[in-house]
Amino acid sequence: MTAKLIKGTEIREQILEEITAEVAEIKAKYGKVPGLVTILVGENPASISYVTLKIQTAHRVGFKEVQDSQPVTISEADLLALIDKYNKDDSINGILVQLPLPKHIDEKKVLNAIDPDKDVDGFHPVNVGRLMIGGDEVKFPPCTPAGIQEMIIRAGVETKGAEVVVVGRSNIVGKPIANMMIQKGKGANSTVTIVHTGTKDLAGHCKRADILIVAAGVPDLVKPEWIKPGACVIDVGVNRVGEKVNEAGKKVAILKGDVDFNAAKEIAGWITPVPGGVGPMTITMLMLNTLKSLKFKLGKK
Ligand code: GUN
Repeated sequence: MTAKLIKGTEIREQILEEITAEVAEIKAKYGKVPGLVTILVGENPASISYVTLKIQTAHRVGFKEVQDSQPVTISEADLLALIDKYNKDDSINGILVQLPLPKHIDEKKVLNAIDPDKDVDGFHPVNVGRLMIGGDEVKFPPCTPAGIQEMIIRAGVETKGAEVVVVGRSNIVGKPIANMMIQKGKGANSTVTIVHTGTKDLAGHCKRADILIVAAGVPDLVKPEWIKPGACVIDVGVNRVGEKVNEAGKKVAILKGDVDFNAAKEIAGWITPVPGGVGPMTITMLMLNTLKSLKFKLGKK
């Protein structure tokens, strides 16, 4: 193995400790803690486990955490009214509506109803626009791209002038991370190419990348010969390719990334594992956004 592993699990611990210390400081000075509400509609098992982890993490770092579970039958109007209630609640700094929502509810309408200054997911068009403008305008970068950038910074990878290739053009990962990496400033200032299913020479583009960010959702899409020796490879893929029984005798999913890890680690300079790479960073950055939301309100940067 030649590549250095960038472990999301370790970086998560460092950041959560930093957040906990800052929350304690703000509490002592202002008598306030960040408040996060997660709204869960229905009983989708994956959504329940994500939301539970978000709430547990919020509790761990000293936030006020509210888990608001609603039946799958809730009407769109009632959900919008609930969001309005939290928009007006001074003790709440972050509102997260867990996706996906049931079919009878218009997801776009719901996300657009969240106060952009409490939109800690960074999905509201106002925050997408702020991200595009960059610099001081940015309030809440979306959590997965923010986690990716933080991993690159903390691993000490040079981004200024680097050739960054992003595989995938989703609104949640591909488009925002590409946008973030072209901005001036720390962990950015790169030359970015986005490749996607319409790209003619996927391999050719990937081979040029100093930093290769892969968010395609296709297991083992990136072959070792597509990787430039010494490149930084960020694998955002979380593909369920089967099931196994773990040490506790419980059935768990077998996860695979979008990059052929075992081969790629012999060529890359840095690489993120799956699981334990980008995954743990998303919830961590949600906590950071919620803390930032309170800090903005208190007039702190
Ligand atoms: N469902 C899966 N991932 C996410 C996320 O990051 N935010 C929200 N709101 N829902 C999700």
